[in-house]
Amino acid sequence: MKRFEGKVVLVTGAASGIGLATAVEFAREGATVVASDLRQDDLDAAYAEVSAERLAIECRVQDVTQHAAWTDTVQAIVARHGRLDVLVNNAGGGEFATIETTTLEQWRAVNAVNLEGVFFGMQAAIAVMKESGGAIVNNSSITALVGEPMLAAYSATKGGVRAMTKAAAVDCARRGYPIRINSIHPGYTQTKLVATALESLGERADEFAAAATAKIPVGRLAEPIEIARPILFLASDDASYMTGAELVVDGGYVAE
Ligand SMILES: NC(=O)c1ccc[n+]([C@@H]2O[C@H](COP(=O)([O-])OP(=O)(O)OC[C@H]3O[C@@H](n4cnc5c(N)ncnc54)[C@H](O)[C@@H]3O)[C@@H](O)[C@H]2O)c1
Repeated sequence: MKRFEGKVVLVTGAASGIGLATAVEFAREGATVVASDLRQDDLDAAYAEVSAERLAIECRVQDVTQHAAWTDTVQAIVARHGRLDVLVNNAGGGEFATIETTTLEQWRAVNAVNLEGVFFGMQAAIAVMKESGGAIVNNSSITALVGEPMLAAYSATKGGVRAMTKAAAVDCARRGYPIRINSIHPGYTQTKLVATALESLGERADEFAAAATAKIPVGRLAEPIEIARPILFLASDDASYMTGAELVVDGGYVAE
């Protein structure tokens, strides 16, 4: 019996990077997975690679910043599968900018996806999980724990995710809802997000990348699968006594 057989899992931001690896890993472990992201063509391209495995992955267009889209998505999952067992609030992004150079537009855009999206997601999932039970994993970052000068707004949202996870987790536990909610805190991971942010630095990209890598004790960035597996752990019964916790997966970055 696979670990997630019979479970229904929603992963947001699942057309790329950590979300893609997480959705595939859940499906390989027996789950029925709804993989959501902004664009159908990105989802189709992402999952074409694993189509031969015949995994139970359904792709769905969903913008996590849209409240109504959350209600529609969760209702559609429950109508089709009768349940939602796991939500991974993974969609996110951000641009390099310091506290002085961050524009109001950038601030609002990153808050809408990284923080408000997670707020909407938790509300929608808790509404259906409070009777049947479930697990929520929120993708935060090491920037919730240490200062990264070039990620001012991004860090603020990730700190918000960390704190909101704890508030929601203890509230659900105290109310007797059988729901566990935890945050994961990846260090730098080889994804489109990092590649795009580095590109924006132009000729300073190599210098920044070398300095960031030098701060990682294991000496390299993570692969998306190395974040996906700890996400599955948090969502699994192996983590049955974990709620409101923060799991740091960063090659030793914040330990030093
Ligand atoms: N890569 C890293 O170094 C790193 C480190 C710590 C945390 N994280 C977090 O991991 C998560 C995944 O990032 P990634 O590195 O895999 O990046 P990525 O760019 O590869 O994937 C992010 C996905 O989120 C989707 N997305 C963006 N806005 C969305 C919206 N409004 N609605 C739905 N989907 C949306 C994108 O289309 C993309 O497919 C993010 O929350 C990110 O902050 C990444």
